Amino acid sequence: MNVRDGQEVTGLLLERGYRLTPDEESADVILYNTCSVREQAENRVWSNMGRLKGLKARRPEVVIGMMGCMAKAHRADAFRRMPHLDFISGPAQLYEVPELIEAIFEERRPMQAIQEKRRPRFQQVEYHAGKVTALVTVMEGCDKVCSYCIIPYTRGPEVSRPMAQVLEEVRGLAQRGYKEAMLLGQNVNSYGRRFSGEMGETGRSGAFPELLAKVNEIEGIERIRFITSHPWDAVEGLFDAMRDLPKVCEHLHLPVQSGSDEVLKRMRRGYTASEYLSALGALRQRLPEGAVSTDLIVGFPGETEEDFEGTVRLVEQARFDSAFIFKYSPRPFAAASRWADDVPEEVKDRRLQRLLKLQETISRQKDERFVGKTVELLVEGVEDGQGMGRSRCSRKGYFPGAEVSPGETVLIRVEAIRGHSLMGVRV
Ligand code: 5AD
Ligand code: SF4
Repeated sequence: MNVRDGQEVTGLLLERGYRLTPDEESADVILYNTCSVREQAENRVWSNMGRLKGLKARRPEVVIGMMGCMAKAHRADAFRRMPHLDFISGPAQLYEVPELIEAIFEERRPMQAIQEKRRPRFQQVEYHAGKVTALVTVMEGCDKVCSYCIIPYTRGPEVSRPMAQVLEEVRGLAQRGYKEAMLLGQNVNSYGRRFSGEMGETGRSGAFPELLAKVNEIEGIERIRFITSHPWDAVEGLFDAMRDLPKVCEHLHLPVQSGSDEVLKRMRRGYTASEYLSALGALRQRLPEGAVSTDLIVGFPGETEEDFEGTVRLVEQARFDSAFIFKYSPRPFAAASRWADDVPEEVKDRRLQRLLKLQETISRQKDERFVGKTVELLVEGVEDGQGMGRSRCSRKGYFPGAEVSPGETVLIRVEAIRGHSLMGVRV
């Protein structure tokens, strides 16, 4: 979602004649697009931004902006912590960033601008970093109340983008040669429950499979992906759609967070470990060869050894293709930030390492299923003289021969796994 937001602002600025520069020294405008989901991500921004103090002292005319979730989460202290900052802009106001920059240039003096209001409509993105895949927002915000999470605060309540608007954007992308649409939302499964009101579409549940079916009909689009799903409403209709719609890739990202029912309850996830596993079973029944990835948090407040062993067991049973594993960090505005962050850092580290190692072993075993198989790659480009593309299960694949262009589809027979990439030859 943040990558997409960055592309939105880049597109708007390019339209007005701005150009991208290779480094900060030659830039007139320096923008940080930020994420608040974990403390570490924020710390990186604070330290990178801090480094710009000298540059701003030498060249006070340079406009420095903080965009995205940190702008919202830190609107009260950002300017105090970073006096050389010119503006902050929350994630729902990015469309106004060009005007903000112009206003700061015109005033020709240090100025601080903050935006609070919510975007009146969803913005179409004109700039995409690659030539093959385009990121398309289908909904924004989140109505869930996961106790560790800051996103419902920074991105606000859930709003879905009218179906006609999503389809119009994807059709335009297909005409411009994009082959893959990646549909984005904090929780795409609840797409459609509340529309933005721009086009008078009536809210209803179960609209996401309907949207997938309509995108599936768009000529020129060859693959459809989506991220992220919440298991609580990962309804079977979605799994059916994944099985039945030929363009929808066989990869589901389904964050589980923990394998302990006690912890899941305090996280307010709304499901138990066994409910999660049965949802997973329902998916695998339909797509036995499909890929599933997840997110896990270790060291949530009150997580005991026994709770953690529950997570280890779940990871062993679920056999994910890959997992993003995080150490818990308290986030302002999230309910759990009021509870003691009582799992010692070295215990968090140990649990993290153990899960990483376990998942690495499982990932390797799961990758082996592709060896000897024929896999379809959507070519992204050439790397070190080899063709590179992505499989429908989201693995990178390489093959000899540089005579390919981005957007082409090739079939390879997988001969080996290197790292987590599929190494093969064209068939
Ligand atoms: N601490 C650690 N990880 C977190 N995530 C969200 N909030 C926190 C937090 N406070 C993780 C979750 C989520 C992913 C995007 O980030 O696993 O799925
Ligand atoms: Fe955060 Fe939970 Fe919403 Fe995901 S579903 S954005 S983890 S509150």
